[in-house]
Amino acid sequence: MKFLVTGAAGFIGYHVAARLLADGHQVVSIDNLNDYYDVALKIARLDLLVNKPKFQFIKLDLADREGIAAMFAEHNFQRVIHLAAQAGVRYSLENPLAYADANLIGHLNVLEGCRRNNVEHLLYASSSSVYGLNRKLPFSTEDSVDHPISLYAATKKANELMSHSYSHLYGIPTTGLRFFTVYGPWGRPDMALFKFTKAILAGESIDVYNHGEMYRDFTYVDDITEAIVRLQAIIPQADPEWVVEEGSPTTSSAPYHVYNIGNNTPVKLMEYISVLEQALGITACKNMLSMQSGDIVDTHANTAELYNAISFEPATSVQDGVKRFVNWYQEFYKFQ
Ligand SMILES: NC(=O)c1ccc[n+]([C@@H]2O[C@H](COP(=O)([O-])OP(=O)(O)OC[C@H]3O[C@@H](n4cnc5c(N)ncnc54)[C@H](O)[C@@H]3O)[C@@H](O)[C@H]2O)c1
Repeated sequence: MKFLVTGAAGFIGYHVAARLLADGHQVVSIDNLNDYYDVALKIARLDLLVNKPKFQFIKLDLADREGIAAMFAEHNFQRVIHLAAQAGVRYSLENPLAYADANLIGHLNVLEGCRRNNVEHLLYASSSSVYGLNRKLPFSTEDSVDHPISLYAATKKANELMSHSYSHLYGIPTTGLRFFTVYGPWGRPDMALFKFTKAILAGESIDVYNHGEMYRDFTYVDDITEAIVRLQAIIPQADPEWVVEEGSPTTSSAPYHVYNIGNNTPVKLMEYISVLEQALGITACKNMLSMQSGDIVDTHANTAELYNAISFEPATSVQDGVKRFVNWYQEFYKFQ
């Protein structure tokens, strides 16, 4: 099949593109290679893809309306996996407009591309951050997600709403993917595991927010990829019996669905750090700090619905996942 994977120079997009190519699919990817984090890491990921015969890369910005429209018109995509975005909760306090361009205008341009070119299924990244002020754990896709606490989260919730409207208006099947703290090889330099590893190896102290009193459903990237590969084959169907008063918020009378993709095993931040310390064989010097605004204290995914749909749910332990990240990091950055 022919896929568009947006953001293949990014962490998750790289893994998804590599997996689809290994499965024999054709993959086109766009990315603007922005410098939100180290561009060399983005290029290094792409370098592993560009020599594969069924891969094509186009440097393109999601907000470039004409460019995105022309790219969609040129290719006849059957599936679109939209992962490019301005990621990161904390940066959305500093540079909110980057989120408007990439996540709002960009998402609309992707929806328009799907609409004009009869794409069979659009899957797009949402986030556990949409759960915002919710306190009931585990977070369920049945729960209301109307109280985001960062602009990043608001743009991800907006993506779900925009997608629903296009599923309803134009019958485009859309699947929203609420990822929970993804980590693994080729991970993001702005995320905790990468930052901690870099600092510990440099003999610097690490910043531990909320004095370590946080739980995260850390989800290994291969589990995310497996779930996406399975979900792309499950095309949401319109349910004519569905009514808003009784229906689940995860489905609709439109061909629309939203899933949690998380490990369903929250790990305390201090435990995650201790697993990293063991993998590195070094004890970190910790700088205990208060909570950062925009951050959620605990995340925990209810994945029953995901499992019902694809007979799979993420389960890689942080012990295994962190070790694999450290092995990759030490090899890539030549740190022995
Ligand atoms: N990693 C996580 O823990 C996590 C959790 C929840 C949701 N998500 C979402 O999953 C998706 C992938 O995240 P990731 O961790 O791989 O992030 P990433 O930053 O590594 O990848 C995103 C890619 O999109 C590209 N991009 C950004 N703005 C663009 C634009 N305007 N035009 C074209 N390309 C652009 C970037 O250059 C980058 O390569 C994102 O939508 C993110 O919001 C990630």
